[in-house]
Amino acid sequence: MVTVQICVGSSCFLRGAPRIIDKFQELMAEHGLSNRLILKGSFCLEQCTKGGVTLFIGDELLTGVGYEDIPVLFESKILPAVKDVSR
Ligand code: FES
Repeated sequence: MVTVQICVGSSCFLRGAPRIIDKFQELMAEHGLSNRLILKGSFCLEQCTKGGVTLFIGDELLTGVGYEDIPVLFESKILPAVKDVSR
């Protein structure tokens, strides 16, 4: 199981966290990953000054993430991680 934790603190919320969550949910459904990926919200991860939205994919902290980055992150980080844990 891979966990994606998305900050929904006030800065990240205003910078588009809800749209990013929607996009993750859409991609999860598209790839049939609802039983292999957990999406979680989080309080402020204290990275507000980095711009964009802050999130963790597994243990990896990513800052300055924008809505337009999600498809690339999904391909480059989520799909390989999901394959790794299903082996
Ligand atoms: S509100 Fe997201 S890092 Fe602070």
